[in-house]
Amino acid sequence: MEELDELSRRVRELERRLDALGGQDRGNETLEAVVETNDLTKRFGDIEAVKGLDLRVWAGETYGLLGPNGSGKTTLIRMLVGLISPTAGVAKVFGKKMPDKEVLSHVGYMTQAEALYQELTVRENIRFFGRIYGEIPEERVEELLRLIELRERANAKVATLSSGMRRRISLACSLVHKPRLLLLDEPTVGIDPQLRATFWQHFKQLNQQGVAIILTSHAMDEAERCDRLGLMSNGRLVAEGSVAEVISRAGKSTLEEAFLYHSGGSHEMG
Ligand SMILES: Nc1ncnc2c1ncn2[C@@H]1O[C@H](COP(=O)(O)OP(=O)(O)O)[C@@H](O)[C@H]1O
Ligand SMILES: [Mg+2]
Repeated sequence: MEELDELSRRVRELERRLDALGGQDRGNETLEAVVETNDLTKRFGDIEAVKGLDLRVWAGETYGLLGPNGSGKTTLIRMLVGLISPTAGVAKVFGKKMPDKEVLSHVGYMTQAEALYQELTVRENIRFFGRIYGEIPEERVEELLRLIELRERANAKVATLSSGMRRRISLACSLVHKPRLLLLDEPTVGIDPQLRATFWQHFKQLNQQGVAIILTSHAMDEAERCDRLGLMSNGRLVAEGSVAEVISRAGKSTLEEAFLYHSGGSHEMG
């Protein structure tokens, strides 16, 4: 029964990748991972933040990175965008070793810490991030204001808004140039359940257009919406697979139990 599940999951995954490829008109190029890391390692002095990670993420999927505080999720993402360089191993995005300027124009990154201009308005921030990548049509800015439900506050200075609102603006800024890879570090912290559902609808639409999404999250209900999960503990990927696989391999019945099992049971989510 389990094997059948596994098989049908693989078929679905292949179908998704084929759909995504069709949309990109890539001829008969072989399937290539959007993200590929080999033995990726990062040390900060004595701390090994990421240890020998081999990760593949494909077009059209949402990959959820879970793990307790300090397990290396943010460090991994920062190496994927080339903000920090690995101590050993390689990180490739769209087949290119990072950092790569051309590839970066197809990557959206929402940082865990806020990176907005407090003295600019909501609209100005989105426009500003768009201009980094070239001219962005004004209708794209409006579209994003609608998505994050901040049209009424478009002319308010960011400094005057709540932290949840600022998370929403950060998301809009990471999406403005229509990236093919989206890296979201704790995107829905402080966002109410209704808007979170809207975001997820949007993520799924992006997946259908072939966009690959990697996100970190602490929320189990959110993890359950990912196509695949990677559980990190002390810099290592300790379990990987669909939600059902991660649960069944741990011999548990919920994702939360499986998470505690895989991370050695000694951590709380953080
Ligand atoms: N710039 C840095 N200098 C020193 N240590 C760091 C730095 N960035 C991260 N670390 C350490 O690396 C480990 C992983 O951190 P991080 O990637 O932020 O984890 P997570 O995002 O999973 O909470 C932690 O022990 C953290 O203190
Ligand atoms: Mg982090």
